[in-house]
Amino acid sequence: MQKRLFHEVIRVVATLAFLVLPLCAQTSDYDQPYRPQVHFSPEEHWTNDPNGLVFYQGEYHLFFQYNPFGNQWGHMSWGHAVSTDLLHWHELPVAIPEHDDTMIFTGSVVVDHQNTSGLCTHGDCLVAIYTGHTQTPEGIRQTQNLAVSLDKGRNWAQYPGNPVLDLHMADFRDPSVSWDPIAHHWIMAVSLPKEHKVRFYSSPDLKQWTLLSDFGPTGDTNGDWECPDLIRVPSSNRARTIWALKVGLNPGAPQGGSGEQYFLGDFDGKAFHQSHLRGSHGWTNYGKDDYCAISFNNLPKDQKPTLLGWMSNWQYAAKIPTTPWRGQMSLPRRLSYISDSAGLALIQEPVVAPLRGKNYEVSALSINSSALYGSGHTIQPPFEIRLQFGHPVEPVFGLRIYSDQQHWTEVAFDTNKKEFYIDRTHSGAAISPDFPVRTTAPLIITRPYDLTLIVDRSSVEAFAQDGTIAMTDLVFPVSNNLQIQIFPDDAKPIQSEGQLWELKSIW
Ligand code: FRU
Repeated sequence: MQKRLFHEVIRVVATLAFLVLPLCAQTSDYDQPYRPQVHFSPEEHWTNDPNGLVFYQGEYHLFFQYNPFGNQWGHMSWGHAVSTDLLHWHELPVAIPEHDDTMIFTGSVVVDHQNTSGLCTHGDCLVAIYTGHTQTPEGIRQTQNLAVSLDKGRNWAQYPGNPVLDLHMADFRDPSVSWDPIAHHWIMAVSLPKEHKVRFYSSPDLKQWTLLSDFGPTGDTNGDWECPDLIRVPSSNRARTIWALKVGLNPGAPQGGSGEQYFLGDFDGKAFHQSHLRGSHGWTNYGKDDYCAISFNNLPKDQKPTLLGWMSNWQYAAKIPTTPWRGQMSLPRRLSYISDSAGLALIQEPVVAPLRGKNYEVSALSINSSALYGSGHTIQPPFEIRLQFGHPVEPVFGLRIYSDQQHWTEVAFDTNKKEFYIDRTHSGAAISPDFPVRTTAPLIITRPYDLTLIVDRSSVEAFAQDGTIAMTDLVFPVSNNLQIQIFPDDAKPIQSEGQLWELKSIW
């Protein structure tokens, strides 16, 4: 009798487990501590740079540096995810695996509309141009190579004539290729990291490459130059365009470790010429955690160029305290530029609005009031805040996001020091000595004091002064129950108004 009861209990437990476990498995896959809810991260294992961003037949493709075997850098291959709105990503199997002694480093993907390469079989196809990183008996060799996909990026074949560009160098990488509609050929921007140069080539067919020119060394040359991208950027009213050349710098960026600088100017079809106007040299991100951002190829004409980066820093990327994955991407940002009394500047607007849920008004809230929600009320990430501060009477104003009494992240304007900053020195887990810092950007007094902040479970992305400042910093708070406080709270009120949206998880 007892035995029968025992078996019955086992049967019921087993049935319940059968019914419940699959549900748990689905929801818990993206629900670990610090798992980003509005940013892409692979389900498991290591990622760094985004690769091959391209729009094709209704899908945005995000390829990414990926280790299919673990959560440390190694076995570099191209992971793959697709989306129809740049936000909800569906991860697919590894697209281009390492082979023999060659790892698949950063590169780009183009749509070969006219089959210039002869690699497409029916109409157009996708061609990847990536750096092969090979250990040879003589040492490391980095070369540029092709792979082709005839089925919307799902399966890739290596081009038998690889490599297509070989300077017999150990450091020659990260090709960014796009179509030049005026000259009717392909343009490649590729990096000579140790020489601090971006080198331009042209090609009629992606196979034969002709040297056009070198840009650099100039700007900041404290570290290797990596991940260049040449982007045609419209003015904010779309009346004109300018060329932006961005290039990663690692190590030695002003914020510490990896950073990204941009140059604004003209590309005449052969060479890039930096503008002489003020503001023609800046940083695509003034935080510590946005590296090797690249733009999407083949976007529909009505979309502004769109940049997306890796949200980490080589100083501590290997110490990010997450499992079973390590690494995440920034939100995509639409690019434009302004030219005002302070000079030129790149403008970045995050793509996030489709995720907006419940909305709270922060209208006419004076900054001496204690907290957005009144004391004691908490909000869970992800959420977005947009604030406009009125005429500043106090020199330092902004907000603090507390995860308990002792831990907070501060995001503020300092008109004395002429700085916008994020201070994460008290934000939570300090995963390395390089982590607890205050990142700063120069404040332009003639531009508005506005702030857009996207707070996810392990990051804060700030956009200020009309999007001319972008600042992305990882944070590892002690809880998900956050309280927001606008400060200073004992000062004369500065009118601020805005909105807060809870954001829907992308998973
Ligand atoms: C930049 C980088 C690239 C290289 C890739 C390797 O983060 O070093 O230059 O292609 O990562 O994973």
